[in-house]
Amino acid sequence: MKFDTPATTNPIDRMTVVGRAHSRIDGPLKTTGGAAYAYEHPAEVADPAYGYVVGAGIAKGRIRSMNLDEAKAAPGVIAIVTAADAGKMGKGKFNTAKLIGGPDIDHYHQAIALVVAETFEQARAAAGLIRVDYTRSKGQFDLAAVADTAPLKGGEPGKPPEYRVGDFEQAFAAAPVKLDQRYTTPDHTHAMMEPFASIAAWNGDALTLWTSNQMVDWTRTDLATTLGIPKDKITLLSPYVGGGFGGKLFLRSDAVLAVLGARAAKRAVKVALQRPLMANNTTHRPATRQRIRIGATPDGTITAIAHESSSGDLPNGGPEAAVLQTQLLYAGANRLTAMRLAVLDLPEGNAMRAPGEAPGLMALEVAMDEMAETLKMDPIAFRVKNDTQVDPKTPTRRFSQRQLVRCLEEGAQRFGWSRRNATPAQVRDGRWLVGMGVASAFRNHMNMTSGARVRLGRDGVVTVETDMTDIGTGSYTIIAQTAAEMMGVPVDSVVVKLGSSAFPVSAGSGGQFGAANATAGVYAACVKLRQALATRLGYDPADLALADGKITSGGRSTSLEQAAAAGDLSAEDKIEFGDLDKTWQLSTFGAHFVEVGVDVYTGATRLRRMLAVCAAGRIINPTSARSQVIGAMTMGVGSALMEELAVDKRFGLFINHDLASYEVPVHADIPHQEVVFLDEVDDKANPMKAKGVGELGLCGVGAAVANAMYNATGVRLRDYPLTLDKHF
Ligand code: MOS
Repeated sequence: MKFDTPATTNPIDRMTVVGRAHSRIDGPLKTTGGAAYAYEHPAEVADPAYGYVVGAGIAKGRIRSMNLDEAKAAPGVIAIVTAADAGKMGKGKFNTAKLIGGPDIDHYHQAIALVVAETFEQARAAAGLIRVDYTRSKGQFDLAAVADTAPLKGGEPGKPPEYRVGDFEQAFAAAPVKLDQRYTTPDHTHAMMEPFASIAAWNGDALTLWTSNQMVDWTRTDLATTLGIPKDKITLLSPYVGGGFGGKLFLRSDAVLAVLGARAAKRAVKVALQRPLMANNTTHRPATRQRIRIGATPDGTITAIAHESSSGDLPNGGPEAAVLQTQLLYAGANRLTAMRLAVLDLPEGNAMRAPGEAPGLMALEVAMDEMAETLKMDPIAFRVKNDTQVDPKTPTRRFSQRQLVRCLEEGAQRFGWSRRNATPAQVRDGRWLVGMGVASAFRNHMNMTSGARVRLGRDGVVTVETDMTDIGTGSYTIIAQTAAEMMGVPVDSVVVKLGSSAFPVSAGSGGQFGAANATAGVYAACVKLRQALATRLGYDPADLALADGKITSGGRSTSLEQAAAAGDLSAEDKIEFGDLDKTWQLSTFGAHFVEVGVDVYTGATRLRRMLAVCAAGRIINPTSARSQVIGAMTMGVGSALMEELAVDKRFGLFINHDLASYEVPVHADIPHQEVVFLDEVDDKANPMKAKGVGELGLCGVGAAVANAMYNATGVRLRDYPLTLDKHF
């Protein structure tokens, strides 16, 4: 089904199941241990061997020699796999560095070997017996040293690295009120609960790979390319994922090594990338150094706005696209955004938890707060004054829906913004200095082709199959709701099967594009199934209604079970998108409100209240959407106050590479969180009239925390994380 004109009325609009709170249909399986994760498939895999990954001990250079003799002779060892066993490896579309290093080493903890043994402990013990001699080369690990002179590089293929409207320099020079500030964000790691993990099993030349991955088809394709295996010989299964956050969008070394290990051992091999390797072996969110300049007239009208950002990556990598939201979020006739990309020899950077906008808004929304103060304006009034309903770079193009102002105003009213004292460091509650902060939230909505197959069985059960993943987000549930609404059956008459390459290719999970696109694909397949039913029954398809397990048309009616009695009916289709997203800018908006207390004696910051108001199209399931947003808000607190991969600039590695030393928020760090979804129906987005919402919940939170801390203390911090040593 091609979606190229705005959606008209369709069965989803009944909203008898879609749009209603529904707890997870996979919840009981998960809470009772019945949901098998990637490392837990013994039922299908008899007698697996265990792999242990060895990571490079240098950041850049060459392996001079590698002595495996002692390790090979160790108890239980079956095989040891190195780059030499991989043959000539191809380069997957989404990988920057080789997934197995040697002899050349591109980054610290790049995988150089997999030890396969009868038990995990034996593999681990043997790995310690591998002797590697390296020749170390000089690397560049310091972003600050090279950020300003790095070459310009665009964030998206085909888009210019520097993007201009009007004459920024002239307008900024002429502006009566100005801000010119720099902000930094550090490297971050995904820190998902479930590690990267895979089980590989060969059967002749056919491979089955159970792996923890967000994007089944991308990863299957890249595995085929990397190891030269015909794609149709690979079955990839990722039915449950214990968190991905962008780290599991791509093929990683655990999968490649498990496949090679299983080939060498002639046995199924399971590999869980050890936690201490994860930060340096896989991808991370690159650090940024950002500069923002805003010029305005005394009444608060922005006349010039510029956002520049530098980040680093390995050769052929990409920038952290921290400036893109600044092209769209506020009005202003003269504009500049630019990104610089330095070559660094740190591990490879890539998408993490709302890439681009999350770190970009951590700078932009603090700059807006600073500018409002200079203008002696309320920070909400300043944002409202510079709202725009048209895309500032293409004035003929409007946002499909843009309720930023309503988000800010509704949030202000609910949060009690009028009680905020605009002068910082005035409010005390015992030992706490108390402050409130606000930030706009913004994240684009992306259209992605997404397919599904739907079957109506003789028992009246509707089965949905798609390679969509559920990374803890609720995909199983919203897909069941969509099929239930379309086929007129209760949710418990729908069986949802996900995460298998045997099923139609879906949007997958990433970039907050999963929910809306994957359900739209299920919608498309259901439309076809409804038509097939009408044809079988000789009903007029134009007048079809499916509800309460019955199908009705032109005064005739029959039960779905009766309709299916002559045999199962199945239909497959995908949602594909035309140019509607070129005519309309599809974005999601929100406002984050935060109240903090800063201890006057210790400098410790505690969150006291949080509120998010989101406008993101139709909300398919308020329960799972809320869970997404409160989780995202929690990540925002982490990026504001705690999260930082510390770079060892001598040896080129992230030194705090485990969960003990990379700090993320725990329950005790997070106060009551309130989430409000504005009524929004976006008929330009897809037939579900829904957009993404998960990452919106994170975008802006860091700045709201920073602004609240400023309001509490009068100390302005611009370098994240905002730890007490910086303001006390
Ligand atoms: Mo997301 S960081 O695109 O999985």
